[in-house]
Amino acid sequence: MKAPTMRMVSMRLKMMIHIHNEDEDIQRKVVKAFIKEYIDDPNEDYVPCPPEMVEKFGVMTPVKGLTNAQKEAVAEWLWEQF
Ligand code: HEM
Repeated sequence: MKAPTMRMVSMRLKMMIHIHNEDEDIQRKVVKAFIKEYIDDPNEDYVPCPPEMVEKFGVMTPVKGLTNAQKEAVAEWLWEQF
């Protein structure tokens, strides 16, 4: 394996980003915004997986050049994984 499973990343994101009144529409918006930013700017302070996984895989290299529509598709797909 080169990276954690995307199902695990999806679960982690939903745990990390918890909305106080549990409004799923707001959570979806915030999680998807995080994902779209993370694709080309994976910040090592906010890696969406447990620390052991960061040790094992490191922080991913930025994926440059996706259009906003492509990032939106990735974000929507990842949201749906868990
Ligand atoms: C918001 C969460 C994440 C998103 C949206 C994301 C997105 C992506 C995308 C779009 C690629 C390129 C895939 C391709 O070129 O076919 C990629 C590659 C990769 N990501 Fe992430 N990723 C996420 C989280 C992570 C995490 C948490 C790790 C590891 C700690 C990770 C490790 C990697 C690695 C190692 C690759 C390169 C895989 C290869 O060499 O084929 N990613 N990621």
